[in-house]
Amino acid sequence: MIVTIDGVAASGKSSVSSGVAQALGVPYVSSGLLYRAVTLLGLNAGADLADPSALLPLLSAVRLEPLASGNRVWNADHDLTADLHSTRVDGGVSTVAALPEIREWVDAQLRALPAPLVAEGRDMGTNVFPHAPHKFYLTASPRVRAERRARERPEDIPAIEAALTERDRQDTTQSAPAPDARIIDTGPLTLQGVIDTILNDLR
Ligand code: DC
Repeated sequence: MIVTIDGVAASGKSSVSSGVAQALGVPYVSSGLLYRAVTLLGLNAGADLADPSALLPLLSAVRLEPLASGNRVWNADHDLTADLHSTRVDGGVSTVAALPEIREWVDAQLRALPAPLVAEGRDMGTNVFPHAPHKFYLTASPRVRAERRARERPEDIPAIEAALTERDRQDTTQSAPAPDARIIDTGPLTLQGVIDTILNDLR
């Protein structure tokens, strides 16, 4: 069994996917971490992030470890996970995720994982696992997402909202919902409310 959970940036996909996976007792996999790992290794090597031929040779020892509690990404025996959400990586990852050669590499890593699993990202239900029997797509307005991100810093909400709207624009191509996905507006729901909505649907 494969459950796909796609959605817009900062819609709570990772927390929701982790919660659903833990309730089901299966691993979850965050595909965005693989795009982030490619970006980090490219930056560390001084590679051109728009050139797939410079990036692909850096990836031979990259491995995703899917766990229900959280994913880890390894490059040989070096754990990259803690460095994958830096501003530097945030700034480069859209460029990397736009490269078809890199998307193919990520897709191959994901399809090699054993089911059952919960797969989270942008194109899990459309492209990577089009035959998955259970598909969900999480949305929320840019304002709601910015408010969640900036809970302790309300003065930052307009800037975060603008950055999220820009990321939505950059990510639109790989981020459309599958026609057979259930779309969940997470705006009025708590994290547990979203998890319960999905679990009820799976029963
Ligand atoms: O979900 P995230 O913020 O960790 O994703 C990081 C970047 O990777 C973001 O720019 C969207 C992109 N991405 C993608 O294109 N396809 C996926 N399946 C997952 C993430």
